Amino acid sequence: MAGETHFGITGLAVMGANLARNVAHHGIPVAVHNRTASKTERFMAEHGQEGPITGAGSVADFVAALERPRTIMAMVKAGPPVDAVIDELAPHLDEGDTLVDGGNSHFRDTQRRTRALADRGLRFLGVGVSGGEEGALVGPSIMPGGDRQAYAHVEDILTTIAAQVDGTPCCTYVGPDGAGHYVKMVHNGIEYADIQLIAEAYDLLRNCVGLEVPEVADVFVGWNEGDLDSFLIQITGIVLGKTDDATGRPLVDVIVDEAEQKGTGRWTAQDALELGVPLTTITEAVFARTLSARRDERAQASRRLAGPRPGDSAALDRAFVDDVQRALYASKVVAYAQGFAQMTTASEAEGWDVDLGAMATIWRGGCIIRAEFLDRIREAYEADPHTPNLLFVDYFRDAVADAQDSWRRVVNVATERGVPVPAFSSALSWYDGYRRASGPANLVQGLRDYFGAHSYRRTDREGSYHTRWAQDGDEVRTGA
Ligand code: 6PG
Repeated sequence: MAGETHFGITGLAVMGANLARNVAHHGIPVAVHNRTASKTERFMAEHGQEGPITGAGSVADFVAALERPRTIMAMVKAGPPVDAVIDELAPHLDEGDTLVDGGNSHFRDTQRRTRALADRGLRFLGVGVSGGEEGALVGPSIMPGGDRQAYAHVEDILTTIAAQVDGTPCCTYVGPDGAGHYVKMVHNGIEYADIQLIAEAYDLLRNCVGLEVPEVADVFVGWNEGDLDSFLIQITGIVLGKTDDATGRPLVDVIVDEAEQKGTGRWTAQDALELGVPLTTITEAVFARTLSARRDERAQASRRLAGPRPGDSAALDRAFVDDVQRALYASKVVAYAQGFAQMTTASEAEGWDVDLGAMATIWRGGCIIRAEFLDRIREAYEADPHTPNLLFVDYFRDAVADAQDSWRRVVNVATERGVPVPAFSSALSWYDGYRRASGPANLVQGLRDYFGAHSYRRTDREGSYHTRWAQDGDEVRTGA
């Protein structure tokens, strides 16, 4: 693919540097730039020989190194740094050039930037890139959104550097303006849920079954051979199998139990609230991180608050390990079903027309949530692109039906023993709520009508009604 240089990357922190190397390794000419010129020099000294790479010390040199129409990808921290890069580059660009934001930007920022750049005659792509440092270098999953014509110019490059599964690139056009960043945000939300479910499973195996850390590691290695086969389950086996050199203890035992977050999981939950999508499992995963972060408060609470009475804590046998495996799988199905339902709703609300089967396809490789399981989701949307929820698909319906006895046992045991399982239990409660044709929201409506005259609808006739609860008790019709 050697030829003129049309593609540039600015921002040579690890993700940008590795993406540039990935491009060059494929023989595609790339120009690189960083705000601090010494970083560009260092990059060129270390990697300049790896392929057709041109280093540029200034923005003017960088832009001049690119033939028109230019495509420049910014790999900088989300937020104000993206606006700063745009402000710096835009005056040097010409009509028809494209700026690409490859960071974890909020989709509303991407929409705003798309409009602002269009006003200046420039094109903008908001591109989700998943896979961490390693993925960026050897093949990430890429979720491009924005101007379709601009994507056409860069499609060959992005599909070439992406991970490939069964000969299919893990990169496809997602939709207009913020669609790519939206899908990346939900990917990260699902990543939060996957990680939280794994942490709960680990907690149960240690504290209910009584396994030692290396034994838990072996369990995860075994699970990676079956339905749960995925990158995150695989690396759980590795992380749990690691011994700390300094203390000789499992490394996990000397890591502080306070989870951090950069914000994409929280954004996913916030947007679910805005859209009215019941995204319980991902949201519980976000809350679990925030609870973990209150470490001092938890230490105080641990000395004050009562748990279940001792006496019912005999170690459970290996059959319970299998229950946890099935509960993990069922909860994972729910987390993905909820995340995909959110993408469906957002796509309709924003007019993006996102192909959900294609999203499952490009998540099969390269990204953090890559898993065997995504092939099942791809097949489900191929069979019925308009399914309202993945649980309507036979494969997932049956998988959860087969797992549910184990799932209920696990949540029961954890609750009885005081082991928190917010993601397992919220997924199960969502499932039980979803599969009920009638629930207790009738009472919610009755109460709202009592104190606020908010009215209710009746099951036996049309219209909306209010009961004059505190006056004569009569029901009056209030609307059509
Ligand atoms: C990816 C990851 C990546 C990153 C997140 C983690 O897809 O490559 O999701 O984007 O690991 O920033 O976010 P938290 O710091 O919020 O866990």
